[in-house]
Amino acid sequence: NWTMHNFVQKTVKEIKERVGDKKVLCALSGGVDSSVAAVLVHKAIGDNLTCIFVDHGLLRKNEGDQVEEVFGEKFNMNLIRINAGERFLTKLNGVTDPETKRKIIGKEFIRVFEEEAKKLGEIDYLLQGTIYPDVIESGTDEAAVIKSHHNVGGLPEDMDFDLIEPLRQLFKDEVRRVGEEMDMPREVVWRQPFPGPGLAIRVLGEITEEKLQIVRESDAILREEIKKAGLEREIWQYFTALPNMKSVGVMGDERTYSHTVGIRAVTSTDGMTSDWARIPYDILEKISNRIVNEVDNVNRIVYDITSKPPSTIEWE
Ligand code: XMP
Repeated sequence: NWTMHNFVQKTVKEIKERVGDKKVLCALSGGVDSSVAAVLVHKAIGDNLTCIFVDHGLLRKNEGDQVEEVFGEKFNMNLIRINAGERFLTKLNGVTDPETKRKIIGKEFIRVFEEEAKKLGEIDYLLQGTIYPDVIESGTDEAAVIKSHHNVGGLPEDMDFDLIEPLRQLFKDEVRRVGEEMDMPREVVWRQPFPGPGLAIRVLGEITEEKLQIVRESDAILREEIKKAGLEREIWQYFTALPNMKSVGVMGDERTYSHTVGIRAVTSTDGMTSDWARIPYDILEKISNRIVNEVDNVNRIVYDITSKPPSTIEWE
């Protein structure tokens, strides 16, 4: 792809000239935009880029390790992973309101990031994965709220660096092509959108490690089966949520009283509106069977068949 090839060459050259041998810092989330931005800048300046990856313990199964593997090992980037799961869980203890959860997570995220950034000493630039739709949308409320969590928005208000935003003129599909041009793994380049607060807004109400475990495991099964069925690219977002509701079931001769898991899968073009995905029944059946059999403390599966509006994609 010549256009993207040229874009990469030109941008790498520009970054080299602008940064020289100064230091760049990046908050890497594993999302498409920050990942492509990081690999691009790494191509230009190598070890003068440091990425901080705050693992808030609310990621999907194996996601933290994958980020470390891809960026730390495959791309050999200067990556600092902070395992802050316990810290976030403590802050979230007893909190049930969705917006309060988001605020706590956003605030704590910035705190952890700043603490680590300070340890690094002199930093001159901050890298951000801002893309063109962010530039034109910023200001509109929903987009602004979303971005403030997602891209770690106006992150360090009291820290003064210059911003580097190499993807500012690209649309999402172009960002993906740039990623492919740089041989980034498909799982990263084609990753489905994932909210900044992560699984915290997929465990409804109070969060506990046990509930997170149910969502993580059931979500991993759902993703595996969607992938096997070749439906990954047709569905905009697919995940499980824990409605925090128990119901009666039967297992062998015994009655059970366990959690219900909700499956959410939607088609969309921008996340602003969506329809529920028509996953074939036999695939839903397989997913349902696997989740009740393989995940402890689950005896019922429901499928969310509402569109947005009036629903939202996430359950919180
Ligand atoms: P809703 O649930 O509002 O979601 O229909 C629309 C899109 O935004 C994502 N989303 C978030 N992303 N922080 C994020 O970074 C958030 O707090 C947040 N809430 C929703 C959601 O996954 C979907 O893609």
